Amino acid sequence: MEIKRLVVFGLGARGNIYATFAKTYPEKFDLVAIIENNPERLDYAKTEYPGARLFADYHAFLLEKIEADIVAVATQDEDHKEHAIAMMAAGYDLLLEKPIANHKEECLEIYEASKRYDRKVIVCHVLRYTPFYSTVKRIIDSGKLGEVITIHASENVGYYHQAHSFIRGPWRNKAQSSPMILAKCCHDMDIIRYLMGEECVSVSSYGDLFYFNEAHAPKGATAYCSDCPHTDCIYKAQTIYTSEVGRFFASYFTTKERTDENILGDLPKTQYDRCVFGCDNDVVDHQVTIMQFAKGKTACHTMTAFSKEIYRDLKVHGTKAELVGVVEKNSIEIRYFGGETEKITVDISAANVGGHMGGDYFMMNSLYRALNGEVAEGVTFLDVSIDSHLMSFAAEESRMNNGGTCKINK
Ligand SMILES: NC(=O)c1ccc[n+]([C@@H]2O[C@H](COP(=O)([O-])OP(=O)(O)OC[C@H]3O[C@@H](n4cnc5c(N)ncnc54)[C@H](O)[C@@H]3O)[C@@H](O)[C@H]2O)c1
Repeated sequence: MEIKRLVVFGLGARGNIYATFAKTYPEKFDLVAIIENNPERLDYAKTEYPGARLFADYHAFLLEKIEADIVAVATQDEDHKEHAIAMMAAGYDLLLEKPIANHKEECLEIYEASKRYDRKVIVCHVLRYTPFYSTVKRIIDSGKLGEVITIHASENVGYYHQAHSFIRGPWRNKAQSSPMILAKCCHDMDIIRYLMGEECVSVSSYGDLFYFNEAHAPKGATAYCSDCPHTDCIYKAQTIYTSEVGRFFASYFTTKERTDENILGDLPKTQYDRCVFGCDNDVVDHQVTIMQFAKGKTACHTMTAFSKEIYRDLKVHGTKAELVGVVEKNSIEIRYFGGETEKITVDISAANVGGHMGGDYFMMNSLYRALNGEVAEGVTFLDVSIDSHLMSFAAEESRMNNGGTCKINK
């Protein structure tokens, strides 16, 4: 297979994973250019990726007409429409970060542009490339489960992750970012659609912001955790950001090394120090979505903030067996009706770049194969990927109408 030329547009957390993959596997990708408008990150790119041409402005990049096989658009959600369409208009195929865009109309505009410019767009639905979901898909395709009739999936966000990202952080407010069912769950919608192998035709959804509001603030709670007398509150920012699981998120308010001292020094009076019962959040803390597929099969998805850990679990019910698994544990059980139970532990040890239980690493490998015209497990293009977003938008519309059925029309 040939080396493929990669451009990274937006060298942030995600873009850096794609650039690192190219650096680690030069026999697969040649990182020909990076477009990044943050001067510090451009400096980092100079030393980390010396072979790539660097651009602070994408218009300057376009003027150079650099040849590339794929542009990874990894800028922020609200910029995807402008950046994706500009790149496609210039003739580039895309690896586009999810969500495609924050609003349905923008997603459809990107989809229309991909058809107009005849460009291929692969959306970074990284979960479908994880060894866990790839194994599940292979099991379904093998027929071991019989015909799949129902899927039940849940996304357990984790109480501290909810507090950081969806109460205090960037995805807390629907108007400023997008509804929870898109921001957090478009991966799940994609997986359910992928495993079912059929289009979803209608959706009903219920959900609410039940707990993280003023009505649940303990008496005497203050605006900032750093002033609050409730020192044993489980949502206390100082406790979360110095915990083993929450320390990772401290990079949102400190650029220093994440020691207790630096975190506790930089946290007070930032948005991440705010009381979880007194923020400007409006995205839901729980939501249940039920889906009907083209041939009458069904699926149900539960999103909840209320879990000790971050994990997803999955049940696939077929006519001959049921499959039960927990993604983060890489464990799968196939319970054959009238037979034994088969236990499978999925191996993700090969994944040495990125995260998402191997999803980032295996996505880049699938991308490489797809660009070489080989069979590439998991890869689909925008005509399929957009379904997950339409399912999410339909779920939100239904939720706003107290569960009223919402049909999906592409
Ligand atoms: N696939 C997944 O599972 C997954 C996970 C996390 C985030 N995301 C998505 O990936 C995207 C990027 O997220 P991130 O966490 O890497 O964000 P980030 O803010 O770390 O990175 C974005 C980068 O784009 C750069 N940028 C912004 N505008 C630019 C412009 N006009 N020209 C050049 N550079 C520009 C920024 O300076 C920044 O370095 C988002 O859409 C996010 O929702 C996807």
